[in-house]
Amino acid sequence: MNQINPALERILVSEEEISQRVIELADQISEDFKDVKRLYIVGILKGAFIFMADLTRKLSIPHVVDFMALSSYGKSTESGAVRILMDLREPIENQHVLIVEDIVDTGQTLQYLNRILMGRNPASLHTCALVRKVGQSVNIPVDYLGFDIPDVWVVGYGLDYADKFRTLPYVAELKRDSF
Ligand code: PRP
Repeated sequence: MNQINPALERILVSEEEISQRVIELADQISEDFKDVKRLYIVGILKGAFIFMADLTRKLSIPHVVDFMALSSYGKSTESGAVRILMDLREPIENQHVLIVEDIVDTGQTLQYLNRILMGRNPASLHTCALVRKVGQSVNIPVDYLGFDIPDVWVVGYGLDYADKFRTLPYVAELKRDSF
């Protein structure tokens, strides 16, 4: 019955729950942006690649996809410094932009992205994340949120531990003795 990887403690969000919620989020986004010419969707690598692929394929509005990659060393520091490793291919001035993240953990990445991308004068800027950990240190609003999850190490559906477990179809808690 229990066939999950032995490194995992428990499944937090099942494959079925994710696919249902992705449809709901895509429907809501499609409705909210039905009057814009196109939505400029920004996936944050690496983690967002699976969520981004599933979400965008359920949208019923015109959209383009682009990606950014950010450094993550800021997480281990109080400063929360974040650095762009790979930037967008196009200017986003006057574009309606939606940031897509796999997880909001401390909130530092999303806060940084909001500041940087708002500085490029988009027509609008919204955020979408599959999961958000409770008790984040930076209080940053998420416009389209899949699930709130407990403050544990999670993997799967794009989320990794040392680049492993990203392609699990669900979001699971990693056992403490696995890291
Ligand atoms: C993860 C995730 C977010 C960020 C959120 O990326 O994809 O971008 O952390 O954390 P925060 O809210 O504490 O800022 P990570 O740095 O693990 O890189 P990866 O996506 O390439 O695995």
